[in-house]
Amino acid sequence: MTDTITIRRPDDWHLHFRDGDVMRGVVPYTARQFGRAIVMPNLTPPVTTAQMAADYRDRIVAAVPKGVDFEPLMVCYLTDDTDADDLVRGAKEGVFTAAKLYPANATTNSAHGVTDVRKIYPVLQRMSDEGIVFCIHGEVTSPDIDVFDREAEFIERYLRDIVANFPDLKIVFEHITTSDAVDFVLESGPNVGATITPQHLHINRNAMLVGGIQPHNYCLPVAKRETHRLALRKAATSGSPKFFLGTDSAPHFKHDKESSCGCAGIFGAPYALESYLTVFDEEGALDKFEGFASLHGPAFYGLPVHEETVTLERTQVDVPEELALAGSSIVPWHGGQTIGWKFVG
Ligand code: DOR
Ligand code: ZN
Repeated sequence: MTDTITIRRPDDWHLHFRDGDVMRGVVPYTARQFGRAIVMPNLTPPVTTAQMAADYRDRIVAAVPKGVDFEPLMVCYLTDDTDADDLVRGAKEGVFTAAKLYPANATTNSAHGVTDVRKIYPVLQRMSDEGIVFCIHGEVTSPDIDVFDREAEFIERYLRDIVANFPDLKIVFEHITTSDAVDFVLESGPNVGATITPQHLHINRNAMLVGGIQPHNYCLPVAKRETHRLALRKAATSGSPKFFLGTDSAPHFKHDKESSCGCAGIFGAPYALESYLTVFDEEGALDKFEGFASLHGPAFYGLPVHEETVTLERTQVDVPEELALAGSSIVPWHGGQTIGWKFVG
């Protein structure tokens, strides 16, 4: 049995750092494990300009512990009024790595999101021309569509059309949760990839709803039924370069999740690699872990892989039920559980 595994330093291709004290509290968890991260722009107000992104990047860099090598990769929050010139200039100056579609009101801080994807087709054309990656929160928001069907419906209503119209645009279908999304990504050309979170590999929707409401298993897109979880595990551990690591680590205080209207989001950063590795181990796919965690993402984004390595060892780790954060507390993913791998460094 393999007892340690060493891989090139991985990156997190999708997470939320927030801002202020929370950001300063969560950045060290990610910087400890990952070399880079794609930082989502759904702040209040959202990060819509190159100047806002450059300032936000500076604040994040200031929160990285001394001696730790970590690079935040910034993302433009697309709106109906996105200034394509500013986006392209920001990308050329090395501020923007990607731009993100939040369908309006799909999730946390998405009220300023895009009301109709077709409105931003001129921006997508510029992004395609300039090689700027397009990250998509792929859920329709129509109230008539069942929350469990929103991702599959997004593919049919919007994504097929986007991919057909912009064959050269690099598209990341973020935090996929369904076999429909896996199939769509596999059927599409090499410009279409997807991130997969640890939670969607570990839990199905029962984990949210059985034995009482489990707010710490609630995120968006919501976990789906077991067949979908199995399809995601197969995709992640398949070795296909189309699938790569993106935790969607989304910190919310414990009291904000355990409330009459609990926030969507799972704080996956502290034990992210341990969580993913458990899945690869269970699937007998330890040899595929480095590709998913450290190689496929850089290849898709056209960035170099890291030269340094990280090591994990097989041993029992008790994950704390909660962590102190910004004068309050937060429940990490796997909080209160024991996991079978330890991040050594
Ligand atoms: O669960 C989620 N939380 N999904 C998202 O899309 C956004 C995120 C957040 O920002 O809290
Ligand atoms: Zn997210």
